Amino acid sequence: MKILVTGGAGFIGSNFVHRTLATRPDSAVTVLDALTYAGSMASLAGVEDRIRFVEGDVADEGLVDQLVGDADVVVHFAAESHNDNSLADPSPFIRTNLIGTFTLLEAARRHGVRYHHISTDEVYGDLDLDDPKKFTEDTPYTPSSPYSASKAGSDHLVRAWVRSFGLRATISNCSNNYGPRQHVEKFIPRQITNVIDGVRPKLYGDGLNVRDWIHVDDHNDAVWTIIDGGRVGETYLIGANGEMNNRDVIAMILEMMGQAPDAFDHVTDRSGHDRRYAIEAGKLRSELGWTPRYESFRDGLAATIEWYRDNESWWRPMKDATEAKYALTQKVVGR
Ligand code: NAD
Ligand code: TYD
Repeated sequence: MKILVTGGAGFIGSNFVHRTLATRPDSAVTVLDALTYAGSMASLAGVEDRIRFVEGDVADEGLVDQLVGDADVVVHFAAESHNDNSLADPSPFIRTNLIGTFTLLEAARRHGVRYHHISTDEVYGDLDLDDPKKFTEDTPYTPSSPYSASKAGSDHLVRAWVRSFGLRATISNCSNNYGPRQHVEKFIPRQITNVIDGVRPKLYGDGLNVRDWIHVDDHNDAVWTIIDGGRVGETYLIGANGEMNNRDVIAMILEMMGQAPDAFDHVTDRSGHDRRYAIEAGKLRSELGWTPRYESFRDGLAATIEWYRDNESWWRPMKDATEAKYALTQKVVGR
């Protein structure tokens, strides 16, 4: 199968490429990635010779037409992906997440190519901490940030292309991923690399915000399950019952790295900070038989800490610039 992977030099996309080549060695993988601040060829180390890598923009109509025309399936990971960046400057989010998705959809329509759209549970807004409900495929879209609004818009484009043009597309909305090769701007790798550097982890607000953690390999296995067996036009939520508040995650990281569990700083809260995400993945489990392989968040987190300890050369080049950017808006407000 000829697969076009957009954003394959980013966190989830690069893990998808590694996993695809390991589990489906006959696949012909082309990666299209603009190598923004979030993309790195180092994330494809070890498989560069087994893929075709094209540096380019998903909003480049000519390039996208050529690459999509040559593929059996497109898996669209490329995006501007960080909420904090979308608050500082929403414009690249509109261009990449909306215009980029539109460009891919038009090419997939012209060539009749199967398309899978990678999205987030953040399109559903947030839940109260004590709400017994979780997000399902029927939850109304109420995104909070420029990032989640741009992802919601891209999902709506996909749905319209299915209904109006008969595009053979599926969508998956996944909860927060963790694992190797995640940019150090994100919550878990930021704290791990801070501790390695002797810097106190940074908790936004009261830290009671809940995220529903899933290992990136479980996400990517679910994506393949949907490509293989998902019904065209359907949306599938991906999650692994990994709800945990940020304060507890930081305490776990500190404890696992030999520090006191309260050795962190409270910093300025994120504007519009979503309170809680939680996924009900029953449709994916019952219809397609998917189950996560990582049963313990603690074990997955331990392996992730180990990865960052062993791969400092991967994250070191991005660490200072990331912290310098955070220092412009975040102040320590308590210990
Ligand atoms: P990431 O920021 O680590 O990687 C994004 C990749 O896209 C980078 O390699 C970047 O260079 C590339 N890119 C950005 N703009 C581009 C453009 N215009 N053209 C081509 N390439 C471009 O992001 P991630 O965390 O790996 O997320 C991947 C996808 O998964 C996104 O669509 C995101 O919305 C979705 N998602 C992420 C999470 C999560 O927890 N990280 C959860 C659910 C869904
Ligand atoms: P993040 O990794 O940015 O993912 P998302 O915004 O998509 O959920 O943040 C995860 C949670 O961690 C979120 O509630 C914000 C919080 N957070 C911190 O407390 N400190 C940090 O340094 C960062 C980056 C995030």
